[in-house]
Order: sequence, then structure tokens, then C-alpha cells
Amino acid sequence: MANFDGKTAIVTGASGGIGEAAAKRFAEEGASVVVADLKIEEGEATVADIEDAGGEATFVETDVSDPADAGAMVDAAVDEYGGLDFAFNNAGIEGERAATSDQPVDNFERVIGVNLKGVFLGMRAEIPVMLEDGGGAVVNTSSIAGQVGFPEISPYAASKFGVIGLTKTAALEYSGEGVRVNAVCPGVIDTPMVAQSREDDPESIEQATAATPVGRLGEPEEIGDAAVWLCSEDASFVTGEAMTVDGGYTS
Ligand code: NAI
Repeated sequence: MANFDGKTAIVTGASGGIGEAAAKRFAEEGASVVVADLKIEEGEATVADIEDAGGEATFVETDVSDPADAGAMVDAAVDEYGGLDFAFNNAGIEGERAATSDQPVDNFERVIGVNLKGVFLGMRAEIPVMLEDGGGAVVNTSSIAGQVGFPEISPYAASKFGVIGLTKTAALEYSGEGVRVNAVCPGVIDTPMVAQSREDDPESIEQATAATPVGRLGEPEEIGDAAVWLCSEDASFVTGEAMTVDGGYTS
């Protein structure tokens, strides 16, 4: 148990999938949670689930690729809960699949805008507030596609390798001032993002399952657990790390 009583966490992409599961895990540990996402109805449902379980949360409609929205989500944490201790910058999109020479330029820009610029804008808004509050912890969602190559997802791969670069840079800059910064690199996790791939290309999911030594896809809660752990005191000497949670896929 992490004991986040009295703490505040922002979780982006928390209307579904990994973010939703993580928001619930932070709330279970006692944190008040800012649920930040584009999807309003689903985000409000995440908040309702947290409140029904006895936790505290608020939804903020957020496009993580928009600097003003990134600022507004941090303002909401400060206004509602008095500060910010943890941020899980998790919102992401896969984008269109195509070999590099066939990749539409606007797809490249869109994926980089959400997955990479979104993490940059998040940290840029979050870290000053954490520094003012005496410290905190950031976890950014990369991917095993940020560690090894996968065909036909060059924008996604570039964004996820980039997230690790942003993470390590910020860790060097802020760990001495009490803000630890880490990334989590999920393997194939059973979320709506993967459900879409299952529809488009069922074989790819079968192959992913077969390539995962534990013999199944990961559950969103298993990434939520990793994010909670990385923010907890148990991880007080862990910073600048890209933690792989992939059931052995990249082993
Ligand atoms: P998902 O599609 O189930 O959920 C993503 C959430 O992000 C959605 O609620 C969506 O509305 C939100 N979102 C998308 N664009 C946004 C924006 N511009 N601003 C704010 N919110 C936005 O995806 P999933 O699977 O939960 O993925 C979460 C993160 O984990 C992503 O960064 C993804 O790249 C990463 N990841 C997922 C893996 C998987 O197998 N599911 C594997 C490795 C990494």
C-alpha cells in the first residue's frame, strides 16, 4: 500500500484504458485525482466510480497537446485540492499504421503532438507546482515500442522513444530538488486501444499474446500498479528509469 492520503494526482488519458485503471488505483491509495481527458462522458464515469468507492476526483476536459489545457489541468489540481504531488502523463494515441515511406505527414504530426508534445507540456506545467510544494513524482507513459522497433508505427515509435528522452532529461534536472521523473513501458495491454487493433488485425493480437512469455495480455491495472509504485516512497531512489512492464515480451 502506497498511502497517498492528502496527496493529489493528475492522470491524463483517464477516461479509459490504462489511465482509468491508474486513476482508480491512485484514488484507492488515498490520493485526490484530477481525471484529464478529451472524452467527457467516460471521464465523468471514471470520477463517479472513484466517488462511489469512497475516493475523491474531478474531471477536467483536456487536450494534452494544447499548452493552455495542460496549464488548466494543473490549475484545477491546485484550485480543487491545494497542490500537486503526482502526475501520470499517460494520454496517447496509436495513429495510422503504415510503413515509414507511406506515413501521412499529418498522422506523424498528430501522434507526436499527443504522445510526445503532450508529455512535454504536461511536465512543463506540473513540475513548477511540485517544486513549489516541496517535491513530487512524475510518471510518463512510454511503451515497449519506445525501447525496440516495431514495423509500421514510426510516428508512435518516435514519440515513445522521445518520451524516454524527456523523462531522463527531466529526471536529471529536477531529482535534486525532490521531483523524481520516471517512465513506464507497457507491453501489450488489454485496453480499448488494443481492442481497435484486434478489430483491424486479429492476428496481430494472437501474435502478441504468443510473444508474451506469461501467456496473456497485460491488464490496465498492472500498469496502474507500476505508476503508483513509481510515485510511492518505496521508489524513493528510482528516477530517470524506464520501467518495462510487458510480461517478458522484450526479454
Ligand atoms: P486507450 O485508447 O484505451 O486510452 C487512451 C485515453 O487517452 C483515451 O481515454 C483517450 O480519450 C485519451 N486521449 C487521447 N488523446 C488525448 C488527448 N489529446 N488529450 C487527452 N486525452 C487524450 O489507450 P491505452 O491503451 O489505455 O493507452 C494509454 C497509454 O499507454 C498510451 O500512451 C499508449 O500509447 C500507452 N501504451 C498502451 C499499450 C497497450 O497495449 N494498450 C502498450 C504500450 C503503451
